[in-house]
Amino acid sequence: MTSQPLKLKVCIAGATGWVGKPLCLAVSAADDLSLVGAVSRSHAGQSLKHAVGDSTLDLTISASVAEALDTPTDVLVDYTKADAVKANVLTAIRGGAHVIIGTSGLTGEDFTEINEAALEHKVGVIAAGNFALTAVLLQRFACQAAKYLGHWEIIDYASDTKEDAPSGTARELAFRLSEVGRPEVTHPVEETIGEKESRGATLDGSQIHSLRLPGYVISVEAIFGAKDERLTIRHDAGSGAEPYIQGTLLAIRQVRNYVGLVRGLDKIIE
Ligand SMILES: NC(=O)c1ccc[n+]([C@@H]2O[C@H](COP(=O)([O-])OP(=O)(O)OC[C@H]3O[C@@H](n4cnc5c(N)ncnc54)[C@H](OP(=O)(O)O)[C@@H]3O)[C@@H](O)[C@H]2O)c1
Repeated sequence: MTSQPLKLKVCIAGATGWVGKPLCLAVSAADDLSLVGAVSRSHAGQSLKHAVGDSTLDLTISASVAEALDTPTDVLVDYTKADAVKANVLTAIRGGAHVIIGTSGLTGEDFTEINEAALEHKVGVIAAGNFALTAVLLQRFACQAAKYLGHWEIIDYASDTKEDAPSGTARELAFRLSEVGRPEVTHPVEETIGEKESRGATLDGSQIHSLRLPGYVISVEAIFGAKDERLTIRHDAGSGAEPYIQGTLLAIRQVRNYVGLVRGLDKIIE
C-alpha cells in the first residue's frame, strides 16, 4: 500500500476579506494543501462555509491568530490590515509556523524585526507587496531600467478607502530599486523651496507619491527621467483578487525551503 504525501496545513488570517475568501477556496481545492484555520474577528465562532458561501469549507472561524494556531499549522497566510499584520506574523513565527505576508503597511524596520524573529525560530517568511505576476514583471523591468537611467520616482495610486500608504507594491518597488542603486538627485528634497512634503516620501532612496481617490484599485508607476526623454513603466490591478491567488499558493508551497525573510515573489518564482 502506498502512503499519501502529507498535506501542508494552512491557516488564513483575514479569511473573510476580498483576498481571503478566494484564497480559502483555492487552498481548500488544492490536493497538496489543507485549510486548517481561518481568522476573522467579526465572524469568530461561525462556520467558514457560511462566511465564504461554500459548503466545502467546514471549519470554525477563530477570533485571533493565537487561537487559530492551537490547531497544528505549517503556514500562516496574512491578508488582514496594516495595524494587525505585524503582531499576527510574530505570533506565528514564535509558534513555529512559516508565514506568507500579503498585507501591506509594514515598514523597513518591521521587516528587519520579522527577519530576526524568523531566523531565531528557524522558519521561513515570504512577503510580497504584490503577489500578481504582472506586478513582478513591473519590478523586474523597472530594476532593469534603473541600471541605465539614473533618475526615477514612483507614483502609487489606490482607492480612497485604503488606509495605509504607500502601498505594499510601491514600498517593495522602492526596496528592489535600492538593490540596483539610489536615484541621482539634482536638487535635494530637504532644500525644496516651499512645502517639501509635496515632493513625496523618501523610501529606500526613492521619492514615492501616493494618491488615494475613488475609482482606483491599485496602480503603480515607475517613472524614469533622462535629458529630453522619459520612460514610464506602469502596473494596473483590476477589480478581482484572482491575480494574487496563484502567487500566494506558490509562496505557500515554497516557504518551507527558506529560513528568514524573503521579500518579493520574483525571488522565488524561478
Ligand atoms: N500582496 C498582495 O498581492 C495584495 C493583494 C491584495 C491586497 N493586499 C493587501 O492585503 C490586505 C487585505 O486586503 P483585502 O482587500 O482582502 O482586505 P479586506 O477585504 O478588508 O479584508 C480584511 C480581512 O482581515 C480581517 N481584519 C481586518 N482588520 C483586522 C484586524 N485588525 N485584525 C485581524 N483581522 C482583521 C477582516 O475580518 P474582520 O474585520 O472580521 O477581522 C477580513 O477578513 C491589505 O493590506 C491589502 O493592501 C495585498
